[in-house]
Amino acid sequence: MKIIKMDHERILIRDLVIILIISIFVSGTLFAFQRTGEEKNKLQLTKKEAARIDSIVKAMSLEEKIAMLHGNGIFTSAGVKRFGIDDLKYSDGPHGVREDTELNSFKPAKTTLDSSTFFPTGSALAATWNQELALKYGKALGWETRMRGKDVILGPAINITRIPVGGRTFEYMSEDPLLNSRLAVNYVKGVQSNGVAACVKHYAANNQETNRGTVNVEMDERTLREIYLPAFKSAITEGNALSIMTAYNKFRGSYCSENDYLLNKILFGEWGFNGIVISDWGGTHSTVNCALNGLDVEMGSFRKVYFADSLFKAVKDGKVPEKVIEGKVKRILGVMILTQKNRVDKLSGAVSTAENNKVAYDVASQSIVLVKNSNNLLPINTNEIKKIAVIGDNAMHKHATGGFGAGVKARYEVTPLEGLRNKIGKNVQLQVVHGYNPSYDTINYKKFQKVPSDKPDQNLIKEAVEAAKNSDVAIIFAGTNHDVETEATDRKSLALPYGQDELIKAVSEANPKTIVCVVAGAPTDMNRTLSSAGAVLYTWFNGSQAGNAVADVLLGNVNPSGKMPFTFPADLNQTPAQYLNTFPGKDLTANYLEGILVGYRWYDTKAIVPQICFGFGLSYTTFDYSGIRVAKNVVGKNEAVKFSLNIKNSGTKTGYETVQVYVSKVNSAVKRAEKELKAFKKVLVPAGKSVKVNFDLNASDLAYFDEQKHNWVVEPGDYIFAAGSSSKDLRSRTTITIQ
Ligand code: BGC
Repeated sequence: MKIIKMDHERILIRDLVIILIISIFVSGTLFAFQRTGEEKNKLQLTKKEAARIDSIVKAMSLEEKIAMLHGNGIFTSAGVKRFGIDDLKYSDGPHGVREDTELNSFKPAKTTLDSSTFFPTGSALAATWNQELALKYGKALGWETRMRGKDVILGPAINITRIPVGGRTFEYMSEDPLLNSRLAVNYVKGVQSNGVAACVKHYAANNQETNRGTVNVEMDERTLREIYLPAFKSAITEGNALSIMTAYNKFRGSYCSENDYLLNKILFGEWGFNGIVISDWGGTHSTVNCALNGLDVEMGSFRKVYFADSLFKAVKDGKVPEKVIEGKVKRILGVMILTQKNRVDKLSGAVSTAENNKVAYDVASQSIVLVKNSNNLLPINTNEIKKIAVIGDNAMHKHATGGFGAGVKARYEVTPLEGLRNKIGKNVQLQVVHGYNPSYDTINYKKFQKVPSDKPDQNLIKEAVEAAKNSDVAIIFAGTNHDVETEATDRKSLALPYGQDELIKAVSEANPKTIVCVVAGAPTDMNRTLSSAGAVLYTWFNGSQAGNAVADVLLGNVNPSGKMPFTFPADLNQTPAQYLNTFPGKDLTANYLEGILVGYRWYDTKAIVPQICFGFGLSYTTFDYSGIRVAKNVVGKNEAVKFSLNIKNSGTKTGYETVQVYVSKVNSAVKRAEKELKAFKKVLVPAGKSVKVNFDLNASDLAYFDEQKHNWVVEPGDYIFAAGSSSKDLRSRTTITIQ
């Protein structure tokens, strides 16, 4: 890689003075840094800082400017040393600060101060449906990013989970744009409140890993606006995210890193973005197009550097105006100045603080979804039992690393077995057996993926059956791992790998008190698990505190409150992409023919019954919904839509309920989904008590995107508002008329 040489000899006295001023400024604010709330630290440039940027850019040579526009290491891009501005340091997220790497490769740097908290992954965070927790998650992650000496955390990852077998479903959040947006905004605000930049990724339409570097995604404009863009838009316009990463794929014929429509028109034009656009690693494919169409920093390219010598030449040849380069440099300098003034230079190691451990624990414990609980098998009453059979590789398996891409060198990770040992007390004996063996038919298929074997290990099953027979209760920790769910490849099927269905069936027959805890980041086929096991918990890749959280739910110290952030199909062919044969696409084009009917919008509209519906999750208590009370039944197009309802905890355990409000348009003139999530709130309701839940929407929240008008339109007429505990369990309805 040929990097442009800078002319260090030409440092002027004036520049030295500027260095001095900046140094004083940087050291002064470094000590002033503290863990502030997001209100105080909006990461916005002051007039003084903006003026300083102008004067620095004026003094910079073209070589110096261009040196800032590509990675000068695998996770760094150059600052301008002679003005006291250091390189920008990036770290992979989205669920923890990645270990340090060698300067020019992904190989671990093998240092000792590069561990951090492994936070629950994106789908787990989404399953909490808790916006306040997303804010705390962002704050904790931002804090650790800062403590690890980095400026930009590469998260949140917010692509819509269009296909359940998508390899990165565990990193992403949801199939629903509202849930996705609300969590993304809070994550971003939290991260940036600690003085580092969030980087929302992957913009846009990176919804499959198969052919991700070459596939062209086609979809209609309404689908783009209503489903795939909302979370990006909110993260930028409301969350003020300082950076955004372009996706590997093409969108409507051009790569996302050089996509005039996505970058110039929408991101900069419509959303007024003022931060930096970075490419995904190795996702840059041109010089002039990328430069003119909005890309600021080329990252991860080792052999072909489009934004170095060739960009210099393109400017000299008049193909890229220097003004365009200056615009990029100014925005990059803005991010550098805003983040570096908070930088902690010494690796203080202040990760996994008590506060951050609590965030990891709270997210993990609120994410766990109780899917089935026959005869109130859960929670386990330890006074009534003496022995538990703990079965399955996932009882012991750690998930912070593995597979390709996103991983964390966890400071610690409590496995389910360790969690149970921490919590169970001395009177209950645990008998631990492996149950299944993660073995592979093909290793290194396409370099990254190991194709898991579907053959059960009969000896391990026999051993598990014996253990279950001799125990009061059997708990199987089943599911996947990062050899199965990983970046750069999609799963071939939804089936639980390694023949686990046979294990679950055999153990459940041996002991009807069998509880299955599924450790996975995406939907799996739950058909046979649900018909055999007495109780089922979906427990995600749940981070450093995973084991403590699942043990507390199993033992009833925590009342489960997670809700599914996506639909589980009964069969892969039910999913719109498979049904319409649009995945992985033909001739490297994925045409999203299902349009706006993504996730539950498809199942509900087409009257298809999935295995587990969107928003589903049981509790150890029961909630009663009162009728919706509306402030005004008839409202104007620009007016507020306000309503409330009471939720009563009619059981004996305090618990959280997530009230979900879905809206359907009566006799719509345009095609619509049967219903859409328009509001949600997670509330803690003490046993026997009622809580009033208020919702405050605007009529504009009901708008659809009109392709002809190229704008959002609120259709007048009647809308049914239905509130409930899941997308299929709607308990209370009312009609509101928009004039
Ligand atoms: C992923 C990004 C990640 C980058 C750097 C890419 O392969 O798509 O999400 O941030 O690598 O590790």
